[in-house]
Amino acid sequence: MEIIVINSSPRKDFNTARLCERFTEGVRAVNENVRINWINLYELKFTGCQSCFACKKKGSTFYGKCAVRDDLKDVLQQIEDCDGLVIGTPIYLASVPGYLKCMLERLLFAKTTYESGYRSLFGRKLPVQMIYSMNATPEQAEEGGFLTNIAVTEDFIAHVLGTPQHLIAYNTYQFKDYSLYDVEVFSETEKAAYRHYQFPKDLQAAYEAGKGMAEKLFA
Ligand SMILES: Cc1cc2nc3c(=O)[nH]c(=O)nc-3n(C[C@H](O)[C@H](O)[C@H](O)COP(=O)(O)O)c2cc1C
Repeated sequence: MEIIVINSSPRKDFNTARLCERFTEGVRAVNENVRINWINLYELKFTGCQSCFACKKKGSTFYGKCAVRDDLKDVLQQIEDCDGLVIGTPIYLASVPGYLKCMLERLLFAKTTYESGYRSLFGRKLPVQMIYSMNATPEQAEEGGFLTNIAVTEDFIAHVLGTPQHLIAYNTYQFKDYSLYDVEVFSETEKAAYRHYQFPKDLQAAYEAGKGMAEKLFA
């Protein structure tokens, strides 16, 4: 069994990565032999979809596959072969970061046919867990349309791979030391209090989600 964890934050040890790490601990609590394939997306060099349509061309050897050759090629194949997928991501400008969007274009578009009903070529239902972290409070996320944007992205994932579970860590602590940055709109004291109270709960939710995915895989 292999679970792929994609950390879509450029930071390898901050909110998103810590939540993903806790998820993997949950997985291992159920079965320590599950292979965790951890991918830091920002270490890879790749582009978004090139609109070549090789994935849709009649008779193409790339039908249903992305033809672009770069660092994402192997990752896309690994996702096709894995047993579970975790995508951890910060929210950038109200949605997932552009880099993750580039990956999703290549993964989801190649597997979506233009047949009536847009049949998925993925061929099975993959357990998918989305883990989000964002600066906003739940109210700000709702007001800013972030949750709508998340839902749209998840609809595409659901159609092609399988309906994702999701968890969200709101109001994250963005800097290790707020005093070093020019920040007027956040109160460090409030952020620290929220983090102290809430982040352990978010980590626990990630742990439980990891256990949940592993239990389903071994049911
Ligand atoms: C370029 C950029 C854009 C951001 N845009 C948003 C945003 O629109 N809404 C939000 O709530 N947080 C936004 N944030 C904050 C991050 O989503 C938040 O700090 C997140 O927890 C960072 O994840 P990390 O600690 O794993 O890197 C942004 C951060 C950056 C660097």
